[in-house]
Amino acid sequence: MQKNTRNLTYCIKTYGCQMNENDSEKMAGILKNLGYQEEIDENKAGLVILNTCSVRENADQRVLGIIGSYKTVKKNNPDLILAVCGCMMQQPEIVASIKSKYPQVDLIFGTHNIHRLPEFLNNFSLNGNRMIEVWEDSDTIIEDLPVQHKYPFKAFVTIMNGCNNFCTYCIVPYTRGREVSRRPEKIIEEVQALADSGCLEITLLGQNVNSYGNDLEETVTFAALLKDLSQVEGIERIRFMTSHPKDLTDEVIETIAKYDKICNYIHLPIQSGSSRILKKMNRKYSREDVINRVEKIRELIPGVSITTDIIVGFPGETDQDHQDTLDLIKTCRFDSAFTFMYSIRTGTPAATMADQIPDAIKHQRLNECLEILRDLSHECNALYQNQIVKVLAEETSKNNPNRLSGRTETGKLVNFSAGQEAIGQIVHVKITTAKSFSLDGEMIEGD
Ligand code: SAH
Ligand code: SF4
Ligand code: F3S
Repeated sequence: MQKNTRNLTYCIKTYGCQMNENDSEKMAGILKNLGYQEEIDENKAGLVILNTCSVRENADQRVLGIIGSYKTVKKNNPDLILAVCGCMMQQPEIVASIKSKYPQVDLIFGTHNIHRLPEFLNNFSLNGNRMIEVWEDSDTIIEDLPVQHKYPFKAFVTIMNGCNNFCTYCIVPYTRGREVSRRPEKIIEEVQALADSGCLEITLLGQNVNSYGNDLEETVTFAALLKDLSQVEGIERIRFMTSHPKDLTDEVIETIAKYDKICNYIHLPIQSGSSRILKKMNRKYSREDVINRVEKIRELIPGVSITTDIIVGFPGETDQDHQDTLDLIKTCRFDSAFTFMYSIRTGTPAATMADQIPDAIKHQRLNECLEILRDLSHECNALYQNQIVKVLAEETSKNNPNRLSGRTETGKLVNFSAGQEAIGQIVHVKITTAKSFSLDGEMIEGD
């Protein structure tokens, strides 16, 4: 039965990484084209989409809890369409469990077929039957999808999908398929269009941007792409993530150093400081390789900020391995880090490795990392005291409605006094107080 009085509003809830955020922006673009309006209140929306992440177990649990809560929401609002997509849906056992336990879910699709959203909605409105369509992998990238960017002045640009690395703990190669790079001209076209619309900052996305182009017929490297993109007039800042240490070439580091628009900021996840554990993780670099890369970065890019990801409690991690991680964090002097307790992901090689580490030890190791990182972060931030830095003003500060917040080229969060009209502009800010996790400052007028 066709429902003609449908509530054409949507609310997308996004979990996980920037890849998912960018996918949600694409779904928002598709929905806008279909005549839908955004509704921030999920209780009023006609369509709710949960874009899920599966990278750690707590991510899965959280989403399953939220799906569960929609049982009552749907009772009160039977016309609501509930769609669930993203990385969790790429796992058949999760889809099977939703199928049997969560009748409130109407649409299920995966990471490779978000462009089919109009068909899914159309079919559902025609027959009201639950629809499940998940593609195992995809060797093409769907170009020219409309994108509804969250901010007018900064945007994510996905340059490649998937991952070929199969780190032994990680689910991403199973949920996102193999690496597929976008053609450089399509990326440049998108960035040019963003610049034309007034966008100042782009963040290039890929699980391992340093291997960009390896799968394309023409010879194009990530460094070459960076060079081309820095020619795009109007774009002031180019960021990218993530850099895998094994593929971070001198050429990429030299390119960041040479081109002003490429931000002096590198996210370089090391995961562990023990060469023995890195081998078990299948990361394909050693502790010494990390030290070598960080030294090279610091030598060529003065003032650079380097951040990382750390996993504690990988199977078989000894006290000595953990000490090696703490030691490497100190040696590299990371500005900050995302730290995670190892989480078993069914189907990955590490899930069945011997010597899984008890939670209590994971907690203790995590806290030891956090303590060192807090001190390092404070020391790195202290270097900004009394400096004048350029900040892209992004929004009203979370803890003070009379101030704005934004980021330096090096990714530091700055809360500063300035009028709302500065939002969306790159302004000069004098740093008055350096805290452990943010900087306070005053905008310098006239810039
Ligand atoms: N492609 C990126 C990482 C993407 S996942 C890279 O290789 O650097 C983001 C982070 O989640 C990883 O860097 C890792 O630190 C963490 N992570 C991934 N799988 C995990 C697991 N099973 N348990 C705990 N943390 C994990
Ligand atoms: Fe996961 Fe490793 Fe790929 Fe990063 S490089 S997404 S950690 S498999
Ligand atoms: Fe999560 Fe998928 Fe990203 S598993 S971290 S949303 S690629």
